[in-house]
Amino acid sequence: MFDKALSLIGPEPKPISNEEYRSRQSKLFSQFGENELLILCSSPETIHSNDVHHPYRSQSDMIYLTGWYEPESVMVAQFVDDSWTVSIFVQPKDTLKEIWEGRRPGVEGAIKDWPVDHAYSIDDLEESLNQSIVNSSRIYHRTGIRTEIDSMVFDAIQHRGRARQMAGTGPISIEDPSSRIAELRLCKSPAEIEQMKYASIVSSIAHEAAMRSCNTNRTENQIQAIIEGFFVFSGTSGWAYPSIVGCGENATILHYKENNSPCKDGEVILIDAGAEYRGYASDITRSWPINGKFTDAQKEIYQLVLDSQEAAIAECVVGKPYNAPHDAARKVLAEGLIELGIINQSLEEALDFNTGELRNWYMHNTSHWIGLDVHDVGVYKPNGEPRLLEEGMCLTIEPGLYFGSWRPDVNCPPKYSNLGIRIEDDVLITSNGPEVLTAACPKTIDEIESIVGKSF
Ligand code: GLY
Ligand code: MN
Ligand code: MN
Repeated sequence: MFDKALSLIGPEPKPISNEEYRSRQSKLFSQFGENELLILCSSPETIHSNDVHHPYRSQSDMIYLTGWYEPESVMVAQFVDDSWTVSIFVQPKDTLKEIWEGRRPGVEGAIKDWPVDHAYSIDDLEESLNQSIVNSSRIYHRTGIRTEIDSMVFDAIQHRGRARQMAGTGPISIEDPSSRIAELRLCKSPAEIEQMKYASIVSSIAHEAAMRSCNTNRTENQIQAIIEGFFVFSGTSGWAYPSIVGCGENATILHYKENNSPCKDGEVILIDAGAEYRGYASDITRSWPINGKFTDAQKEIYQLVLDSQEAAIAECVVGKPYNAPHDAARKVLAEGLIELGIINQSLEEALDFNTGELRNWYMHNTSHWIGLDVHDVGVYKPNGEPRLLEEGMCLTIEPGLYFGSWRPDVNCPPKYSNLGIRIEDDVLITSNGPEVLTAACPKTIDEIESIVGKSF
């Protein structure tokens, strides 16, 4: 059923090369002193229900630095004999466990195919850490991810602490390396952009497939199934975050999760869904009329949100502050709502963060970084000042308007009762201006009306 849709995707990009992982590692290590030590854990496996785990997804920093996706793993980096040496401690091969849980690269696979200098069994980690810590003055380690690894580190430090008085060596501080890695992750390399483009095209076509399969007999969950089914059909690892699929009043709930109502004639459906590909996220929202035709009232709001999104995208330019798109979107929305008579304040009053009426109808930010995490890492205001956009940064642009007539805190205009519209794309900052990675996803009123309910 997805063959035509699949033909629109194009070939998969090459994976990130080991040379690139090595270069990322070197950039990080160049910030460290020679007697410092990095310890990086994979995330823990989590339980869905008795004996059943959630699908495993490792920590993005681990993926970023090593491309290693397996659970129960720890990367350790240390300066040895004139160079930084990377070791990875992994689950060893174990036929019985592999029969039940799946094949493992093991120590042999890790050393053969991954960008590391040494590979060991995870069972050897504790002893190795005790040795490595001896001569380290500082340990880079993010606590709180794996408590058993934290304990090993704390025990090793405590042990060395006592010995320090005699030997004069041993760690005296722990620093979380996350913010240093986040800085590296903020600007995407050409190879990362290729992965993000693939996640974006799959997600765009998935939304189009959902639009085409839509009719007034559908339920939210059926449309969710089309979108997420296509994520899997096209070879991604599935959703990058749980899909939001809400019709009518459900579209006015920002993080709606139930996704189980019937889609009614006359309603608009809002879908916020994106695929993850080789760890990289896509994040798209589209809103369209279930019956394929916007009403005049729906058109007014849809076009206003689209205008605000276009104004925001136009601000995605090298050298502009990261919040310029948000300011541009808010201004267009406020002007439009004043013109429609929904806001009875001056523009300046409407935009006030505390007392402005815009917040009644647009209550979230316009952007977040996107990359290995859908809400990607990177400080927005280093030293309290808005970060300026640079080539290679990727951010979402996602303005919306939400008229929930169920809300007791506002008087919702009856004309727009239970209408929720958000339009979200992922934008790459380039020296030639904004590049919309999700541009293949239908967006204008004409495009949407020509697609909804019509098969490929
Ligand atoms: N899908 C989550 C977000 O748009 O931020
Ligand atoms: Mn988003
Ligand atoms: Mn989203």
